[in-house]
Formats: sequence, structure tokens, C-alpha cells
Amino acid sequence: MLTLGIESSCDETAAAVVDETGLIHSDVVRSQVALHAPYGGIVPELASRDHVRGITIVIREALSRAGVGFEALQGIAVTARPGLSGALLVGVQVAKGVAWARGLPIVAVDHLVGHLLAVFLRRTGANTTAAENANTSSDGGSGGPATTPEYPFVALLASGGHTAIYRVNGPSIDAIHELGATRDDAAGEAFDKVAKIIGLGYPGGPLVDRLAAKGDADRFPIPPPMARRDSLEFSFSGVKSFVARHVAEHGKPTSDAARADLCAGFQRTVVGSLVNKTVRAARAEGVTNVVLAGGVAANRELRRRAAEACATAGLALHVPPMASCTDNAAMIAYAGALRLCRGERDDLSFATATRTALARVTRKGGGRRAAPR
Ligand code: KG4
Ligand code: ZN
Repeated sequence: MLTLGIESSCDETAAAVVDETGLIHSDVVRSQVALHAPYGGIVPELASRDHVRGITIVIREALSRAGVGFEALQGIAVTARPGLSGALLVGVQVAKGVAWARGLPIVAVDHLVGHLLAVFLRRTGANTTAAENANTSSDGGSGGPATTPEYPFVALLASGGHTAIYRVNGPSIDAIHELGATRDDAAGEAFDKVAKIIGLGYPGGPLVDRLAAKGDADRFPIPPPMARRDSLEFSFSGVKSFVARHVAEHGKPTSDAARADLCAGFQRTVVGSLVNKTVRAARAEGVTNVVLAGGVAANRELRRRAAEACATAGLALHVPPMASCTDNAAMIAYAGALRLCRGERDDLSFATATRTALARVTRKGGGRRAAPR
């Protein structure tokens, strides 16, 4: 029961072949980081054009690594939302074309659902090594998380575009409930913006992570945002502004040590907020399983502090390997495979959308908040 997954929602062009148990038969990711780096952020039109260039390359590569042709597939799963509209259209049009030409069923997948289910993926290593195209990379790591969670679980999803805590009762969209989200910047967005302010480059998350490991967080202590005990909402723009004000007053840090200290102070505050609220959410929901998801879940301090906090609180933490946290098509294929197994199919006329289909409780910006569930 093999499903081909296709992902083009942001700045990775990806294809993967996965079965309904979560076993990855191939996982190919073609990153656009080098393309966008000179601009210090993602340029949507460049992203769409590069998806056009890369999409058939990654699909061919994914089938070849899995050692199968289209005839072996049970169906096609493609990211239809949320994301950049031009970028999403590339993957969706190609997926529809293949589905129509090969007479295969197709299912649209919400990218956030993919991230939330990525913890169930299992990597064998053999078929997920780097592709030949110099621009194309994929994970060579093997194994999955040491343990997989049981439903229901609480998940922290922190990426470049989204940051929220969810209660996940099951693998379908109506079984996933947002408990609180960011009112302004996503956590990954804050990492990227702070890296830019300090002059580190793009994308900022991994660079800040590396520098912070060598820094002294006490040199630039940054107050925690939204520390109100009962709120499961996040806010990261104040933390980012704190760094921006510091740089405006004192100039960009000129030594490696000063850069590392500033990164350490910023990262400690952001990670503290993510970890505290996630643990509080798990307690409030009465669940014992906690999952990390999204690109920021690759952050080493987040992984370490979440492990400590969960151990103290008697919660079981499940953390996917790095390659399952950052954008990939394997998580899309798996989420789609589960829909296909339930007998669900989408009509070839389905549309893309820039917003998630998951119901939200947090509104961005100021104003009165809806009462949490
Ligand atoms: O999930 P993802 O690959 O794409 C989105 O759906 O947004 O997440 C990308 C985000 C970027 O903002 C990147 O800077 C951040 O994840 N990120 C990290 C780390 N690795 C990636 N942030 C902090 N520490 C990291 N090690
Ligand atoms: Zn993502």
C-alpha cells in the first residue's frame, strides 16, 4: 500500500514514497535555501519557479529510490494548504496530472497535519540518502523516534510559518484541536528575523542554534513573553524587538562571543516559552504523551529542555528525527496514506488555500481572545 507524497508549499520541493504503517521507502528533499539566501528570506515568485524546475526531478528520484513505478502506487497525496499560493499550485497541478494520467486516487493534505503525524514515520536509512543533483538533499539518518505516541497526545508544532499547541485525538483533521497559537510571529520566523538582525544569514534557526550552544544566556537576559499562567498563546515579536533594540543601541555584535551570547539569551527565552506552555497544556488536557513537530523541533536546546521538563512532569516525550521535523514529503505521504486507507478520495477539482483547514482558537493581532476550548 504505497503512497507517493508531493510537497511544494514553501521553499522545499519534495517527494516521498511511504506506506500506511509510516515506513519510508524513499524521501527526497530539494532545498531552495541557496536560491533565497541572497535575499535574506523567501521570495515567493522565485520559490514557485524553482518548484517547476525541481518537481519532476524529485518525483523520479523518489520512485527510483523506492524501486517502484507509478503502477505500484495506491495513490497520490499532495500538500494543498497552507503555504505560498504559487508554490502550492506547482505540486498540486503535477499531482493532479499524475493522478489523472495514471488513474490513481488523489488526496489533498494539510501541511500542518503532516507535521503533526511526522512522529509516526519510520526511516530505514537505505533509501533516504542524498540525491545526485547537487541541489538535492535528503536525510541519510535511520530509525524513527525511540517511541511513538498513543492518542490522544499534545503536540507543539513550531515552524517558520506556524507555532501552536494542539490536542491530537486521532489522525484526521476533525480530531485535531488547536489549544493556543502565536498572536504574532511564528517561533521559526523569530529565529530567522533575529539571525538577520544580528547579521548571521538565512535561514537563521540552525545558525542561532549552533551559536547559542557556545554562548552565555545570562549576559543578555530577555524577559519571557506572555508569561500569564493560564494562557496557551505565544508571542515572539517582543523578544525579536528586544534584540532589535539592543542592536540599534549598541550596534551589531562584532565578536563571535557577543553574537553567541545574544543568540543564547534569545533562544533561552523562546525555548522556555515553548516548553512551559506545552507542558502546561499536557497537564490541563490530562494527557501523558507529548510530541514535538515542525522545523524548530530540530532545535537542540528545545529538544533537551522539553525532555527535562517532560521527565519532571511524568510525561512521555516523543521527538521525531531532524529530517522528519523540517519540511518533507514523507509526512504528507503518510497523512495521505491514512486518508486513502479510510477510503477517502478528493475530486480532481480541489483547490489550494493559503490557510490551514484546522480550526483556530487564537486570533492574530490585538483584541479580545476567544475562550480556549
Ligand atoms: O517546518 P519547516 O521546515 O518549514 C515550515 O513549514 O515553516 O520550518 C522551518 C523553520 C525556519 O524558520 C528555520 O529557521 C527553523 O524552522 N529551524 C530551526 C532549526 N532548524 C530549522 N529553528 C531553531 N533551531 C533549529 N535548529
Ligand atoms: Zn512545514
